[in-house]
Amino acid sequence: MTPSPLVRGPRELRELSRRWRREGALVGLVPTMGALHEGHLSLVRRAREECGRVVVSVFVNPTQFGEGEDFERYPRDLGRDRRLLGEAGCDAVFAPAVEDMYGGGTTDLSSGERVFVDAGRLGEVWEGRERPGHFRGVATVVAMLFNAAEPDRAYFGEKDYQQLKIIQKMARELLFGVEVVPCPTVRDPDGLALSSRNAYLSAEERRAAVALWRALRAAVDLARGGERDARRLERAMEEVCRAEPLVRPQYAAVVDAETLERLRELGGRPARALIAAYVGETRLIDNAALPFP
Ligand code: PAJ
Repeated sequence: MTPSPLVRGPRELRELSRRWRREGALVGLVPTMGALHEGHLSLVRRAREECGRVVVSVFVNPTQFGEGEDFERYPRDLGRDRRLLGEAGCDAVFAPAVEDMYGGGTTDLSSGERVFVDAGRLGEVWEGRERPGHFRGVATVVAMLFNAAEPDRAYFGEKDYQQLKIIQKMARELLFGVEVVPCPTVRDPDGLALSSRNAYLSAEERRAAVALWRALRAAVDLARGGERDARRLERAMEEVCRAEPLVRPQYAAVVDAETLERLRELGGRPARALIAAYVGETRLIDNAALPFP
């Protein structure tokens, strides 16, 4: 299988996408930061089923990484990614250099001179509180990708639930006219959600990391059994994590599935359990839908 053709510049991508649309194809976009795994590929396959043309972006976006985060050491292997995308039947890989994306205008990204997309309150809670500026970087780069690719549909994983909600809201409120398609989380057989950052885990940490999923399942099971007190669900998640010395939870919360506001009680509206934890030095997140009573 030949690797997917490479597109480097935003202008080239827009020309390609416009040509595809003139030919009558729906254009699907799958934004990624590369180091692809089955989770990413499930998005690509879904796009493949629904769209005539599929473009996958592979770009480790500097503006969504905070000071001291893993921007430099984030795994990068474009050759491998392109081969996997070729097999998955993707039509083009958009893999710009940082200068291709942020070269126009002020190139000092932290100067305060550049234009950014503000994700609003949804960008300040949970992940946003732990990673200030993260969602501003995500919303900005996704807006840029939407502008460059002009897709009909864009595919995002529920794995990054808060990100998904922010992108859906951004597409709606900034009138992007892109249909944001949520895709279910792909997991290893023991339940650990696939993530490029799992590559940082030692064998021992990898075993401990499944505690995040066990914690979410504990909350789901309680809710299934009729428990409606959100605090009890949160305490159950924390207890599961406490049983794993290598796991240090940052938050384990029961929230409204749309507003992400913390709930006191289940009932009436869809709810979601969110969890973030350090496993050794690696920060992992996961989430699950809570059955509604
Ligand atoms: P990245 O972490 O590479 O993820 C790219 C897409 O794959 C996201 O929509 C993410 O939710 C989805 N994904 C990751 N792991 C998954 C899994 N186990 N199952 C299903 N989907 C999964 O998220 C980003 O990149 C960036 O923030 C990006 C949106 C590309 C902006 O830079």
